Amino acid sequence: MAAVPPPAAIRPATDADLPAIAAIYAEEVHHGISTFATEPPPLDYWVGRLTSTETGDHLLVAERDGAVVGYTFSGSYRPRAAYARTRESSVYLAAEARGAGVGRALYDELLRLMRADGVHLVVAVVALPNPGSQALHRACGYTSAGVLHEVGHKFGRWIDTELWQLRLT
Ligand SMILES: CC(C)(COP(=O)(O)OP(=O)(O)OC[C@H]1O[C@@H](n2cnc3c(N)ncnc32)[C@H](O)[C@@H]1OP(=O)(O)O)[C@@H](O)C(=O)NCCC(=O)NCCS
Repeated sequence: MAAVPPPAAIRPATDADLPAIAAIYAEEVHHGISTFATEPPPLDYWVGRLTSTETGDHLLVAERDGAVVGYTFSGSYRPRAAYARTRESSVYLAAEARGAGVGRALYDELLRLMRADGVHLVVAVVALPNPGSQALHRACGYTSAGVLHEVGHKFGRWIDTELWQLRLT
């Protein structure tokens, strides 16, 4: 019997991937609540993610049939020095790539890299409702650290966020 193929190839992002990453994010900026941004950031924002030299920072993409269908990154949780060994993780897929294990494949690789870097704690902020993101974080071992009620306002309504945490060391 043939082996089941991986849902997508996971690899570090390159300059050439940044427009596709920006386009996936822009969809959520304009149509979703998973980000509280209301305007897509300039391409420089993604260049900054790609070129970060902070320990534990990564930008990965999922590629399927030659196209970038999703990405994940780790970055600073908060800028103060004592947060240095904590990273925030984030993951976004094109709509047609969801529900097929791509998010899990991206996060498995991101978490592997952060573990190797000695990252101590990973935090994710999930705007509610988002059963897919909650399930992904739970499946990857994150636990819920609580809900901030009505912390954001988008599309004319108040939105809660749930903080998820995963200790790696
Ligand atoms: C959230 C997101 C990244 C999940 O990625 P995905 O590839 O769809 O998730 P996977 O297929 O890898 O599934 C991971 C787990 O979540 C579960 N899951 C996925 N979508 C689900 C849904 N809509 N409802 C319930 N469970 C879901 C899967 O069953 C799987 O659980 P298991 O490992 O216990 O079987 C993706 O849906 C997405 O990009 N959503 C829009 C952007 C977003 O919300 N990003 C998160 C910001 S915090």
